[in-house]
Parts: sequence; C-alpha cells; structure tokens
Amino acid sequence: MIRRGKRVVDLGCWPGGWLQVASKLVGPKGFVVGVDKAEIDPPLGIPNCESLVGDVEDPALCELVLKVLGGRKADMLLSDAAPKLTGVRATDRANEERVLEAIEMQIPLLLREGGDLLVKVLDGPEAQVVDRRIRMRFKTAKTIKSKATRKGSTERFLFARGYRGEGEAEAPAPEPEEAG
Ligand SMILES: C[S@@+](CC[C@H](N)C(=O)[O-])C[C@H]1O[C@@H](n2cnc3c(N)ncnc32)[C@H](O)[C@@H]1O
Repeated sequence: MIRRGKRVVDLGCWPGGWLQVASKLVGPKGFVVGVDKAEIDPPLGIPNCESLVGDVEDPALCELVLKVLGGRKADMLLSDAAPKLTGVRATDRANEERVLEAIEMQIPLLLREGGDLLVKVLDGPEAQVVDRRIRMRFKTAKTIKSKATRKGSTERFLFARGYRGEGEAEAPAPEPEEAG
C-alpha cells in the first residue's frame, strides 16, 4: 500500500509503530507526518518522519501538517486513531464515532486527488454510515481484518484507493474483502 517516494500522513500515530514502518517503506525520498494528541517522547529520530501534537477533530490541523509537507497534500492517509475507553459503552461508542467523523472531515483537507486511505473503523451503526460515505469518494474500497485484532473486537480497516475529490460521489468498485 505504501510505496517509495510517497508523502504519508498518519492520524493517531502514538507511540509510533506505524510511523517507523511507513518511513522505511517510503524511503529517503518520501516523507511521513504523524499526528496524535499524545507527544512521542523521546522523538523517534527518523530523518524522513516528523510527529506533531494535534487533535484530528481540529479543522485547522491541516495547516500544520501541510506546512511540514511543503504545502502539498499526502499521497496516502493512514489512521489508527482510537479514543481512550471509559468503560461506559454508550460514551465509548459516541467517542469512536466522533473520531471517525473527524477523519472523514480531514480527508479532503489532507489527501490529494487519486490518493489512498487506510482507516481503522470501530464498527457500530453510525460508523457504518460514515464508512459508506467515505467509500463513495474513492474508486475502489474494501474491508481488511487484521490477524492482530483481538477476538471480539469491533475493529476493522477500510482500505480505499483513488480519492475522487469532493466532486460527485459514486459507488466504488467492490474489491474482495480480505484478512490482513
Ligand atoms: C491504537 S493507538 C495508535 C497506534 C499507532 N498506530 C502505532 O502504530 O503506534 C491510537 C491513538 O489514537 C490517538 N487519538 C485518539 N483520538 C485522537 C484525536 N482526536 N486526535 C489525535 N489522536 C487521537 C490516541 O491518542 C492513541 O495514541
């Protein structure tokens, strides 16, 4: 999914596992920017990677991220963002839905047309509505289930390719679902 020379943004990046992998995959000609509410401390110290402290719910976040990317939008947007659990099911679900909606809002601000998206979805009725809306903005889309996901978790990943921009939405071509 992540190719050499690409610009990648990772929303909800702490403590930095995905940043380490992505920065290796894009190589020295690519660049990775991570954002999280929590600071990565000590910094990862990777030359082609920068992490910022920020909130994905902040519409002004894109100004900071695009500045690091020299004013150009990302080729790939990743998000593994998940709010802290409170133990109260209704509150947790509402927080998860809010984060997913925030990621949806960030797509046109941070991703270039033709770019790709990998986003964690913590499933629920509202998350499915947002998932469907996101899919319509891409040429192809599929669900990936990770073998690392613990049993009973609602976690899955939406992998969508070829961002259409904010023009007219269309149904994406279905891709076979897969376990990752
Ligand atoms: C599962 S962890 C990410 C792990 C990361 N992919 C890695 O490989 O190290 C989820 C992260 O989402 C972050 N997060 C949750 N809500 C956020 C928000 N509104 N803005 C920024 N980060 C958020 C949390 O702080 C947490 O660090």
